[in-house]
Amino acid sequence: MTRLIVVYESNTGNTRKMAKAVAQGAREVSEVEVVLADVGQASEAQLSEMDGIILGAPTRNTKIPPAMSQFLDRMKQVPVRGKLGAVFGSYGWSGEAVGLLRSALVAQGVRVPGVGVRAKRTPDAQALKQCEDLGRSVAQRLVKEAS
Ligand SMILES: Cc1cc2nc3c(=O)[nH]c(=O)nc-3n(C[C@H](O)[C@H](O)[C@H](O)COP(=O)(O)O)c2cc1C
Repeated sequence: MTRLIVVYESNTGNTRKMAKAVAQGAREVSEVEVVLADVGQASEAQLSEMDGIILGAPTRNTKIPPAMSQFLDRMKQVPVRGKLGAVFGSYGWSGEAVGLLRSALVAQGVRVPGVGVRAKRTPDAQALKQCEDLGRSVAQRLVKEAS
């Protein structure tokens, strides 16, 4: 079975809405088992069993907020090189976190095609669709690579 995890941090729910849409899109691909986890509940050890890793976080003070930052640090103990990844997140005005998340994954050897999805504040229908498309496309690519 191909496995994909969506790990997110969200303080006021906007990135959580995006995470749910990403997972929903990925679940349309029946060959893929999708895990959706708040960063507070996710264990980095789980990551080694995953083929795909999608991370989401809002921007806080121009950075990735602390819980996700710490998760990324702990991820360095896990062999994630070569896995497929993607990123997303909500922001208010500057929105650096999505790019920083992407760079952090790439630095750990995760393949991240595309720039990810950013939504200003509460994701609207268009942003949620982009999130679904993101999840679906990662899942489809994983299936293709596994075959
Ligand atoms: C303390 C604090 C700092 C923030 N700093 C930034 C920032 O530097 N740049 C930005 O684009 N948004 C910033 N925001 C806005 C959040 O990214 C935005 O409200 C986002 O929708 C929150 O997502 P969430 O509901 O998933 O927590 C900040 C919000 C808070 C509360």
